[in-house]
Amino acid sequence: MENFPDLNKLVEEVNNLCKHVGKFIRLEQSRLTQNGIESKGINDFVTYVDKAAETLLVSELQALLPGCGFLTEEKTVTEEEKDFMWIIDPIDGTTNFIHGLPLFSISIALMHKKKTVLGVVYEVSHEECFYAVEGGKAMLNGKEIQVSKRDALKDSLLVTGFPYRDEGRLEAWMQLFISLLRKSHGVRRLGSAAIDLAYVACGRFEAFYEYGLSPWDVAGGAFIVKQAGGLVTDYSGGDDFIFGKELLAGNGLMNEELRAVILNEFNK
Ligand code: IPD
Ligand code: CA
Ligand code: CA
Repeated sequence: MENFPDLNKLVEEVNNLCKHVGKFIRLEQSRLTQNGIESKGINDFVTYVDKAAETLLVSELQALLPGCGFLTEEKTVTEEEKDFMWIIDPIDGTTNFIHGLPLFSISIALMHKKKTVLGVVYEVSHEECFYAVEGGKAMLNGKEIQVSKRDALKDSLLVTGFPYRDEGRLEAWMQLFISLLRKSHGVRRLGSAAIDLAYVACGRFEAFYEYGLSPWDVAGGAFIVKQAGGLVTDYSGGDDFIFGKELLAGNGLMNEELRAVILNEFNK
């Protein structure tokens, strides 16, 4: 690949693609039956819609950026390391999608030499498109968004995910949940990590924390949180949150307070 793409133009094209694929996903949700659902493992489902949506996304993103590589959840394309890598989750929130709940998203990130330069999270049911590019502001449907300004855990609304595959730290996780319920305005569990991150970016939540996540769940949303003025780390405070399966994303004003509570529960 010779030229660095115009990221502002590219993100507009990706947003349009998400709207197009989102329409397909919405239509198929109303038609989905048990026959369309497969199990990949314990509590790990996939539908023909996830796969078809991914195939559509891959072919269009390939056309937008010829020569790029892909890392995708449903593996409809072989993973091949390239300078530019698209990281894609065609439906983040498949369990919600299957049960007819309206909270699921398309999550896309573009990395250049392992650094994220573009992120899009498209919340399909309400057509909310969150996006950002390197050097730019975070946006929601064309308007700039920012993380919230609440600066104390006691005034915050948090969001998390309960691990439904890797149960290694489940007991400690539930203790942490109890502890945070007492220290905050509450803790939500929406079922789409990408939406959780997008909602931190626009200030609906002060922070999101979860473990056991995959790169396609978090790469796009974490980038948008940062461009919205937030802070994203792993639980050591480092930056291994895309591949490291531990993530804490917040408005930056209470990340440390929350991180201390997480570490305290995990080290008991
Ligand atoms: C899941 C969602 C969920 C999180 C899970 C993810 P999927 O993604 O992001 O919120 O708790 O860990 O696997 O399977 O719906 O794409
Ligand atoms: Ca996912
Ligand atoms: Ca998925």
